[in-house]
Amino acid sequence: MATATTDLAAFIRGLPKAELHLHLEGTLEPALKFALASRNGIELAESTVAEVEATYQFHDLTSFLQVYYPAMRVLQQAQDFHDLAFAYLTRAHADGVRHVEMFFDPQAHTSRGVRFDTVISGYRSAIVQARREFGMSAELIMCFLRDQSAEYAMATLMEALPYKEWIIGVGLDSDERGNPPSKFAEVFARARREGFLLTMHCDIDQDNSIEHIRQALEDIGVDRIDHGTNIIENDALVELARSRGIAFTCCPVSNSFVTQSGKSEEILTLLNRGILVTVNSDDPSYFGAYAADNYVALTNSAEVTIDQVVALAKNSFQASWISTARRDAFLLEVDRYVGDNT
Ligand code: ADE
Ligand code: ZN
Repeated sequence: MATATTDLAAFIRGLPKAELHLHLEGTLEPALKFALASRNGIELAESTVAEVEATYQFHDLTSFLQVYYPAMRVLQQAQDFHDLAFAYLTRAHADGVRHVEMFFDPQAHTSRGVRFDTVISGYRSAIVQARREFGMSAELIMCFLRDQSAEYAMATLMEALPYKEWIIGVGLDSDERGNPPSKFAEVFARARREGFLLTMHCDIDQDNSIEHIRQALEDIGVDRIDHGTNIIENDALVELARSRGIAFTCCPVSNSFVTQSGKSEEILTLLNRGILVTVNSDDPSYFGAYAADNYVALTNSAEVTIDQVVALAKNSFQASWISTARRDAFLLEVDRYVGDNT
C-alpha cells in the first residue's frame, strides 16, 4: 500500500489512465506562446513567463475565458497547432496517460481567419506522431462555442464533415451563462445522425445548472457530461445518469480556480453512488495542473483511499470512447500496475 505523500504522487503518476476533458488550446504554455508569437511575427503585451502568468487572474469561468481566447492568436499555421498538441501529448505521456480524447475549438480560429483544415491537420499530425513515438492513442472532440449562434455551430459541423474520420465526437464549451444546451438541440441532433458521439460542458455552479444537466441528459441525449457535479443536487437525475452509465469528466484544479472549491467531496460522493466520474485537467497550462496533478489535488483536499484512486483511473477507461477490446486491455494494465506497486 503506497502511504507517504511522495509515494502516493509517484503511484498516481505511473498509474495508467485516460484523459477525457482536455482543451488543446488550454495547454498553451507561456514559453510556447512566446515561440509561436516570434515565429508568426506577433507582438505580445508581455515579455516574460512571469508577466504572462500575472494575467492569470481568474475568479470565475467568464474571467478565465477573457484571458483564454485572446491568447490563441499566436496559433496561425498547421505547424503551430501540431507543436501545441505534440507538447501536450509528450507531457501527458509522462503522466501515465495512455489514451486521450481532446477538445478543440475550431471557431476560436476560423473566426479570426485561420482555416478549419489548418487547425485540424496540425492537430492530426501530432496525434499520428504520438502514436508512432509513444504508442499513445488520441482522439479529437470538436467543441462548439455556446456563446456564438446555433447557425455558426451548424456551419462548423458542416465544415467538419469531410474530416469525420478524425473527429470522434462533438462537445459544447465557452460561456454557459444564458446559453443552455437547448440552444444547440438541432446541431447535436444532426451531429448524432452523422455518427458523432456527444458530450457537453455543464460547468460548475452555473445559473440553472440543474436544468442544463437535465436538458443534456433528457433532451439532447448526451453520452457524457463535462464537469456536471451539480447533478448531486437532484437525486432523480443522479439515478438517471447512473442507470444510463453516463460519465462525468471532472476537473478538481480547474474547479478550484473558477469556483474556489475543487468540489472533491461532490466528486467522491458521486463515485460512491455509482456514477462514472473521472479526473481530468481541463486547461492545464492555465491552472498549472496536468492529469496526475489533478488526482494528487483530489487526494490532498479530501479523504481518498488508494482503491478510490484506482477506481477513478479505471473509470477513465470505462468512460473512454474506445473499443471493448482496448478497454479490457487497459483495465488489465491498471490491475497489473496496482499488483506490482501496492
Ligand atoms: N473552455 C476551456 N475550458 C472551459 C471550461 N472549463 N468551461 C467552458 N469552456 C471552456
Ligand atoms: Zn472544459
